[in-house]
Amino acid sequence: MVANPPIDEIHFSMEPDVENVPGPRTEQLLERQQEIDSNAVAYPRRIPVALKDAKGATIRDVDGNTFLDFFAGIGVLNVGHSNPYVLDGVHEQLDEITHTVDFPTEARIEFIERLNDIAPDGLAGKSKVVFGGPSGSDAIEGSIKLAKHNTGRHGLLAFEGSYHGTTAGALSLTAGKAYKEGYGPLLADAVHVPFPYSSEPGPSGDVETFCPSENCCQDGTCARALDAVQRKFEGSYGGHESPAGIWVEPIQGEGGVVVPPAGFLEGLRDIADDNDALLIFDEIQTGFGRTGEWFAAEHWDVTPDAMTMAKGIGGSGLPIGAMMYHERYDTWGPGGHVGTFRGNAPAFVGGIRAIEYIESHDLLAHAREVGSYIRSRFRELAEEAPEITDVRGKGQFTGVEFEVDGEPSKSLVEAIQRECYHRGVLVWYAGRHKSVLRLLPPLVLTQQQAEVGMDIITDSIRGVLADHDR
Ligand SMILES: Cc1ncc(COP(=O)(O)O)c(C=O)c1O
Repeated sequence: MVANPPIDEIHFSMEPDVENVPGPRTEQLLERQQEIDSNAVAYPRRIPVALKDAKGATIRDVDGNTFLDFFAGIGVLNVGHSNPYVLDGVHEQLDEITHTVDFPTEARIEFIERLNDIAPDGLAGKSKVVFGGPSGSDAIEGSIKLAKHNTGRHGLLAFEGSYHGTTAGALSLTAGKAYKEGYGPLLADAVHVPFPYSSEPGPSGDVETFCPSENCCQDGTCARALDAVQRKFEGSYGGHESPAGIWVEPIQGEGGVVVPPAGFLEGLRDIADDNDALLIFDEIQTGFGRTGEWFAAEHWDVTPDAMTMAKGIGGSGLPIGAMMYHERYDTWGPGGHVGTFRGNAPAFVGGIRAIEYIESHDLLAHAREVGSYIRSRFRELAEEAPEITDVRGKGQFTGVEFEVDGEPSKSLVEAIQRECYHRGVLVWYAGRHKSVLRLLPPLVLTQQQAEVGMDIITDSIRGVLADHDR
């Protein structure tokens, strides 16, 4: 079955068309927003755009400017904005029934079946899916309950640089201090250990002597991280009871698109097994095709006990959160994890249709190809721009790290983001020091759009660096 239309027919255009942004209508809406909306509003402070409509990898503001969208709703719109194939199904479902709590509907059951079809090998056909509330944070809350319920322990282990959401349990796992300062105390005994990260060099030399993994990948940052995890479980003076679970983003998103070395997830799998703890992969940002596989864990062939999902899984941008877990942990009773919006029929249909669209157009392979092209353009630029100290990522998930005089440079990334916006490309940032340019374009970004977008992004970087050097 072909899910029409093809990807080159679902955008406003192949290139941006902007004039003196922000325009007058945008200014007006921003002003009105500032008067009545919450001080917690954050995104328009970085990109002053007021949105009107969007198609595929393009987005239009209220003044009629068209942008190329390398941001995609912070990783939500994997099959693009307003994908016609997805929306047809969503509209039909909207007319039939929307809110169904957890009564069975064709849409709910089929969506769970389809999630099972695309699940990593160790979970496919042996898993359960739970829907609680319609957000990633809620899925994380569900995973905390699952780990506590199945181990009888309450400690949680996560990583420096991590982001897992903002509800109390999820916030306990999130590492960014800015999100949690002033809101404590959060959950007791939530600990954070280093994530392997090349910009925070680990020990060198014979790392095998202290790496607890049987298959040491010889990476010092990885050995240090695994050693720290193991000590939290097995060290008699580790400071806490053994954690109930390990929460990890297979590729850290907010932390700076940090891709771990080869042995890391496998090492975590071993430590969790040795200590009867659950290994939970947070695939909320990396899932649903973003990295060129359905789930990022598949790059390393490691199966988690549970996997949290949200963002892209509703296909159309309708909110939905879910957790898939191995059936052996389905020990809780009715009400184990619930919420009024425990599933949403149009979002289920959007998710099913998005899976069909991705399969029909081989978008995982496409994301790998176009994403590699994007990173190759940054690597080429790095040869003339020593401020670019690392280019990393997988599929349509790219991070570019910037430094000035050996220090991470937040201001460069801010200036680059602003310049790209003025030239018609929306990009985002990430990182411990906000010094990483983060690109998460939809998987439907065409090669032509990638070329046009990268010409603009690389020219913007050149321009910002030239101003900076003056
Ligand atoms: C890896 C990860 N986990 C959890 C969350 C929280 O999801 P939500 O904002 O839907 O609560 C996010 C959101 O950005 C995320 O990127």
